[in-house]
Amino acid sequence: MIEHMEVSGIRVVNPCYAFRRARDKYATQYTLLAAGLPVPTTYTSESMADAYRVSEQYGDFVYKPILSSMGKGSLRFNDPDLAYNAYKMLDRYGQPLILQKYVPNPGRDIRVFVIGDEVVGSAYKYRAEGKWKTNVAQGGRMVEERVPDEMLELGLKATKAMGLDYSGVDIIESPDGPVILEVNGSPGWQALNLAANIKVAEEIVKHAVGFIHG
Ligand SMILES: Nc1ncnc2c1ncn2[C@@H]1O[C@H](COP(=O)(O)OP(=O)(O)O)[C@@H](O)[C@H]1O
Ligand SMILES: [Mg+2]
Repeated sequence: MIEHMEVSGIRVVNPCYAFRRARDKYATQYTLLAAGLPVPTTYTSESMADAYRVSEQYGDFVYKPILSSMGKGSLRFNDPDLAYNAYKMLDRYGQPLILQKYVPNPGRDIRVFVIGDEVVGSAYKYRAEGKWKTNVAQGGRMVEERVPDEMLELGLKATKAMGLDYSGVDIIESPDGPVILEVNGSPGWQALNLAANIKVAEEIVKHAVGFIHG
């Protein structure tokens, strides 16, 4: 229905295509990369043989479902043969194989909340004991805190590159500098609403009204 509105000429926030692209982990990767932004080393294929070869090269790596959220379905491997057995099953269901080098990190990642050209908040997400994912749905803890300017800047650039009006950008602090993990087109704003009392809906509406006034 939202897309129906959009094709009828109504300006939708977020635009439908940008929203869909943000849900697709493969499309997110190549869009950010084309914009010159840092992303993890990633290989996407439908070939089990190629995926096996890349798994041997990567060593410590993650398989990601093309569409998923809340950390569900991602698997971390350090054994290419174990991974190969998973690929066989995924192949049977016609799933592409998205493999990503595991990015060493300080046990947390960063979330930057963007509306339009502004950062409206930021947070650190700490993973739970024994987990490698920081998703709140996986027991992670989001703590609202100002992050370095470099991260805020990356959040703005990633949102623009993806064509989104608002987003939550996830960044991981690798030893070689920040790397963008994903750009959420419908982030949960709870952490912001509680701690900073930011009226998210109001900010998004203000941004949308800006289109009318040019
Ligand atoms: N390449 C990676 N290296 C290290 N940690 C990762 C990597 N990819 C994902 N993670 C961890 O797993 C979490 C979930 O991955 P993500 O790609 O954001 O999928 P989802 O859409 O399910 O949230 C991330 O927030 C991060 O903590
Ligand atoms: Mg995520």
